[in-house]
Amino acid sequence: MKTLRGAVFGAGVMGAYHARMLRQAAGVELVGVVDTDADKRAQVAGALGCGGFADIVEALDAGLDFAVVATPNHLHAPLTEQLLTNGVHVLVEKPIANTPEEARRLIAAADVAGRLLMVGHVERFNPAVLAAKAACEGERVVSVSITRAGPFPPRMADVGVIMDLAVHDVDIVRYITGSDIAEVSCQHDRVHGSRQDVALILARTESGASAQIDCNWLTPFRVRQMKIATATKFIVADLITRQVVEHSAFMPNGAYTTRHLFVRQAEPLQLEHEAFLEAIRNGAPAPVTGWDGLRNLEIALSCIGGEAA
Ligand SMILES: NC(=O)c1ccc[n+]([C@@H]2O[C@H](COP(=O)([O-])OP(=O)(O)OC[C@H]3O[C@@H](n4cnc5c(N)ncnc54)[C@H](O)[C@@H]3O)[C@@H](O)[C@H]2O)c1
Repeated sequence: MKTLRGAVFGAGVMGAYHARMLRQAAGVELVGVVDTDADKRAQVAGALGCGGFADIVEALDAGLDFAVVATPNHLHAPLTEQLLTNGVHVLVEKPIANTPEEARRLIAAADVAGRLLMVGHVERFNPAVLAAKAACEGERVVSVSITRAGPFPPRMADVGVIMDLAVHDVDIVRYITGSDIAEVSCQHDRVHGSRQDVALILARTESGASAQIDCNWLTPFRVRQMKIATATKFIVADLITRQVVEHSAFMPNGAYTTRHLFVRQAEPLQLEHEAFLEAIRNGAPAPVTGWDGLRNLEIALSCIGGEAA
C-alpha cells in the first residue's frame, strides 16, 4: 500500500483532532500541521512529532498527496481551491464554504485537477447513524426527527447554530432518506448572542419524507437524538451513547417487538478518514461529495434567510 503524505490546515480544536487520528492511520505519513498561529502549530506538531508549517507555500513544498482543511469557515474555499489546483486531494471541514458560488468553484476545481474533494459531514460516519441507516434499508422512510442541543460553546463567535450544528442534521436527513430536500422552512432566534442560537427546521424530501430539526445552544447538557419512522418500524438513536433501538412488528392489540441494534465501536472521524483515503487509493468518488456539501450549505443558508451565517 502506497504511503499517502498529508497535512492538516488549522491546528485548533478540530484540526488537532484530525491530526491525532491521522498520526495513527495506516498507510499515512502526517507530514505536518499548518497554522498561522505559531504557538498552536508548535503545540500540535510537538505533541505528534510531525512538521509545523506557517503557510500553504511551505506545506506544498513539503510534498502532499492530501490535506484536511480545518480552519475558520471563511478560509475553507481559498485554501481548498489552492490545494486542489496544486494537485492535492482535500477533505474540507463542514460547511464546504461560505457561499454556494465558492462551493461551485471548488467542485469545478476538483474536476479540472482530477482530485478528490470530500466534505467533512462526519455524522454520516457516526456508527449510530450507520446502524439506523442500515435498519432503513428497503424501508420507506416516512419521517426523521433530530434534536441536537447543548450549551453555548464559548469559542463560537463567527457562526450561528444553524451553520454550526443544524448543517450536520440537514446532511443526515438527506443521507437517511437517500433523497434531496425539496421544501424547507425555519423559525430561529437570537437569545444570547449576535447569531442564531435556537432554530426549528421543518423540511420535506423529494421522496416525500418529512423532517424536523430542533437545535439550540440553550440546553445546559448535550442532546443528540434521532427518531425515524418508516412504514413498518420506529427507530430511536442516541448519537452520543450510540444506542439504537428498533421497534417493529406492531400488533392490533398494541404489542410490538423491540430490539437493540448492533452498533460498531469506532470513532466517526477515523471512519471518515478511512473512507476518504480509500477513495483516493481506488480513484472512487468522494463518499461525501462537493455536491453534498453545496446542497447542505444552500439549505442551511435558506434557513437563515438574509441573516449572517
Ligand atoms: N465536523 C465537526 O463535527 C466539526 C466540529 C467542530 C468544528 N468543525 C469545523 O472545523 C473548522 C475549525 O473549527 P475549530 O473549532 O477547530 O476552530 P478553531 O478556532 O479552534 O481552529 C481554527 C484554527 O485555524 C487556524 N488558522 C487561521 N487562519 C489560518 C490559515 N490561513 N492557515 C492555517 N490555519 C489557520 C487558527 O489559528 C486556529 O488554530 C470549522 O470549519 C468548523 O466548522 C467541524
